[in-house]
Amino acid sequence: MMQLTLEIVAKTLFGADVGDHADDVGEALDAVLALAADPIFMFFPFLREMPIPSVKRYRRGIAKLDAIIFGVIEKRRAGKQEEGNDLLSMLLHAKDEDGSRMSDRQVRDESLTLFLAGHETTALALSWTWLLLSQHPEVDKKLATELSDVLGDREATLADLPNLRYTNQIINESLRMYPPAWSMGREACEDVVVGGYLIPRDHQVWFCPWAIQRDARWFEAPDEFRPERWENDFQRTLHRYAYFPFGGGPRFCIGQSFAQMEAVLLLATLAQRFRVEVLPKPAPTPDPTVTLRPKHGLRVRLCRRA
Ligand code: HEM
Repeated sequence: MMQLTLEIVAKTLFGADVGDHADDVGEALDAVLALAADPIFMFFPFLREMPIPSVKRYRRGIAKLDAIIFGVIEKRRAGKQEEGNDLLSMLLHAKDEDGSRMSDRQVRDESLTLFLAGHETTALALSWTWLLLSQHPEVDKKLATELSDVLGDREATLADLPNLRYTNQIINESLRMYPPAWSMGREACEDVVVGGYLIPRDHQVWFCPWAIQRDARWFEAPDEFRPERWENDFQRTLHRYAYFPFGGGPRFCIGQSFAQMEAVLLLATLAQRFRVEVLPKPAPTPDPTVTLRPKHGLRVRLCRRA
């Protein structure tokens, strides 16, 4: 799933330019994220300056990503590469109110942010969805019926989205039970009172979709996987922050529509052809680091749909 969403975000951001480097990019990102997500480096930031193996891998990862991204930017700026209808072209052409354009460094930073934010979360959403479908054959069967009714043998396209209602409900329910961004926090830059509580300057507040989205005050039988609960505009009846897999407020996920569209189309396209059985070993245990990953990955058996 990671490889798939990485290739998709690479193509959306850089057109075909990064396609050939997808493996390199995946490897480099792994090294960068391993260090970024390691609590040891969060608590003891000075360790980032030490010549230890994980720091060296991190530095090599950043250098590789820079080489690829700056390389693509340079080719585009020099006009050696055909302009695409991708996000990189938009960033290169974007102008501020005063007419100035972004520097290469800014374009690199923006692209890398989207690159990082834009693939692992979607890959995790899909992975947990496979687990839930594997544990609930009745839901999988209903999904197969919808795919066969709406699509028959042809490929899913954007135009099918409004008709893939159950597929969409499955994704909503999976994001409720296994939110890839399971927890997020803010730090007060000055004393502030929120909901009657004083939050002193420099203190952090963390909020946890994993806990809130499994709270019986908002969701009946919260630990049960029930995509049907999303029928009849259920979301509209909820408190705005009872369900927030994409965050909220000014830092709300910028990729939400893209991710939702991508997840539904990928689930439809793959589930049309395959049923996925998640094998019992290694046990699929959630590992709450920066994102919610399955601790040892998921081992699956792919069964071709009749
Ligand atoms: C299922 C998939 C996704 C989930 C669950 C998800 C979740 C989130 C959440 C919870 C936040 C807010 C973090 C916070 O408030 O601290 C966020 C921010 C962000 N997301 Fe996503 N995301 C997903 C897909 C994507 C995609 C596909 C992209 C880009 C193509 C993307 C780009 C971003 C960016 C750039 C931010 C930072 C926005 C800002 O700080 O202004 N995300 N995402």
